[in-house]
Amino acid sequence: MIPVCALADIRPGEAVRVDGDPPISVFNVDGELYAIDDTCTHQDASLADGWLEGCLIECPLHASCFDLRTGQPTGPPAKVPVRTHEVVVQDGHVYVLAVAVPVTT
Ligand code: FES
Repeated sequence: MIPVCALADIRPGEAVRVDGDPPISVFNVDGELYAIDDTCTHQDASLADGWLEGCLIECPLHASCFDLRTGQPTGPPAKVPVRTHEVVVQDGHVYVLAVAVPVTT
């Protein structure tokens, strides 16, 4: 599991980015936590720097929105979904389950 932060450090309406390869962001939507790959699939923008509206995160660069529940973009210019990740809360700390990056051949 990838440690993110203390549960108290991610308030409703906020995001915490975990630098890694790839970077992952965790969002707090009214107490529900969602984790996605942080980098927009359109170009190189951090979705943690975007605007959160319900379960949608709007990319700060060209305004594509991604559904935090599915990773799917809801409109152009992004066409490829971001990956979603399972979030675990244990003893007041937030973790993201480690995922393997798919190997392309
Ligand atoms: S970089 Fe996110 S929509 Fe262009």
